[in-house]
Amino acid sequence: MNFLPQIVGSFADPASENPTVEMVEAAFRHHGLHWRYLNCEVPANRLAAAVAGARAMGWAGFNCSLPHKVAVIDHLDGLGESARLIGAVNCVVRAGDGRFIGENTDGKGFLRSLQEVTPAAGKRVAIFGAGGAARAIAVELALAEAAEISIVNRTRERGEELARHIASNTATRARFEHWRGLYRLAAEVDVAINATSIGLFPDVDAELPLELDSLRPAMVVADVIPNPPRTRLLEAAAARGCTVLDGLGMLVNQGVAGIRYWTGVDVDARVMRARLEAIFG
Ligand SMILES: NC(=O)c1ccc[n+]([C@@H]2O[C@H](COP(=O)([O-])OP(=O)(O)OC[C@H]3O[C@@H](n4cnc5c(N)ncnc54)[C@H](OP(=O)(O)O)[C@@H]3O)[C@@H](O)[C@H]2O)c1
Repeated sequence: MNFLPQIVGSFADPASENPTVEMVEAAFRHHGLHWRYLNCEVPANRLAAAVAGARAMGWAGFNCSLPHKVAVIDHLDGLGESARLIGAVNCVVRAGDGRFIGENTDGKGFLRSLQEVTPAAGKRVAIFGAGGAARAIAVELALAEAAEISIVNRTRERGEELARHIASNTATRARFEHWRGLYRLAAEVDVAINATSIGLFPDVDAELPLELDSLRPAMVVADVIPNPPRTRLLEAAAARGCTVLDGLGMLVNQGVAGIRYWTGVDVDARVMRARLEAIFG
């Protein structure tokens, strides 16, 4: 008999709309793991106390979401390679010696979804957006040896900084393109990714400023938006014969990566996706 589960969880503010707890606990149940995932609302000025509490209670790790992804770094003992390159942590993992190590699984989740349909190596990629999601995806694609990444962003400084960061820290060619008016994808783009918040609930009819006839059937078109999973962009891309990847895949796969870090078990992504599909309808 053992009445003491291993504990992991999430620190975010706000926290009530984050469905991760449902997805992770569905995997724990399915695999008979004696683990619990606690969804905690932690304001910015209580983050240090929350991390100290997790250490004191022997938590195996935790996810961090807004507004803690960068601030948490000051409270950790080290960073994994992609978290260091991204400059943000969304998954903290307790190492064997008890140190808390920051990892970033957002980009890894995206990469795994992509690799289910095509390898990243050698691909020419266009990423819309230059925020946290775009940064995590761009770093992970570069580490997976994508040939070229175009960062397409509305705000010049943010986009230029991300393109420079990729070009100077990885072997991938990267450039910035200023997004003004309707954007036309070059014919040689292999993978186009919406990493902006355009289309997120409740703004579900919002459309990317994109010339839809530049979408070609050979392209993979991905969206980070998890809710709704079928965005206007993905509808348009599927209608043109593109291979499409939705934001639920990224969300599920970053969860799979986090659970693997914590428990060592490779859980069934389909169980987690089914739970999210039941929630998002
Ligand atoms: N599926 C998943 O697992 C997963 C994981 C992480 C995030 N996400 C999703 O990713 C999205 C972005 O998150 P984030 O953390 O990267 O946000 P963020 O850091 O705030 O960045 C938002 C990006 O979207 C761009 N943007 C927003 N509205 C725009 C508009 N109307 N026109 C053009 N560009 C616009 C911003 O451009 P400017 O720089 O010009 O402001 C910026 O580049 C969110 O919707 C989130 O739900 C999904």
